[in-house]
Amino acid sequence: MRTIEKRIIVYEYSTIWDLPAAEQKLLMASREAALNSYSPYSKFNVGAAVLLDNNEIITGNNQENAAFSESLCAERVALFYANSCYKDIPVRAIAVTASNSQGITHEPVKPCGSCRQALMETEVRFNQPVRIILEGRNKIQVFDGVDNLLPFAFKPDSLG
Ligand code: THU
Repeated sequence: MRTIEKRIIVYEYSTIWDLPAAEQKLLMASREAALNSYSPYSKFNVGAAVLLDNNEIITGNNQENAAFSESLCAERVALFYANSCYKDIPVRAIAVTASNSQGITHEPVKPCGSCRQALMETEVRFNQPVRIILEGRNKIQVFDGVDNLLPFAFKPDSLG
């Protein structure tokens, strides 16, 4: 038996103003996107903003359905829309903001497993890490690459 240890790095900031200007702008876009969420069932509004290498920002939000499993998270709505608009432009970063009836969540919202997998595919597709910026009311967490959120991932090379 041997033990394998993997290092996960999370950068924490106490305010949006401690981030570089481009990332502040991206978080503003994810906040705004959350306002247009269609989430009548969970009443949990999530917005995501994707920054592309051409500096374009594409946003999305969670879209729910009375058949709950047909809903889609904000991250994948934004990511797939960005990829469908600009199929050859790499994704540099994604910012996510969530709010409930009390406003922006205290804890930064974490992407679900399916969104982490989709983000991983994006890294493989464009051969570059995606920076993930998650907003909470009192702190912002930044993950420099999906490996920090999804270690030991299933990737195309897993197919053999
Ligand atoms: N949701 C997202 O859009 N992104 C996340 O990172 C977590 C969850 C959505 C799915 C569903 O519409 C609602 O939030 C409650 O789970």
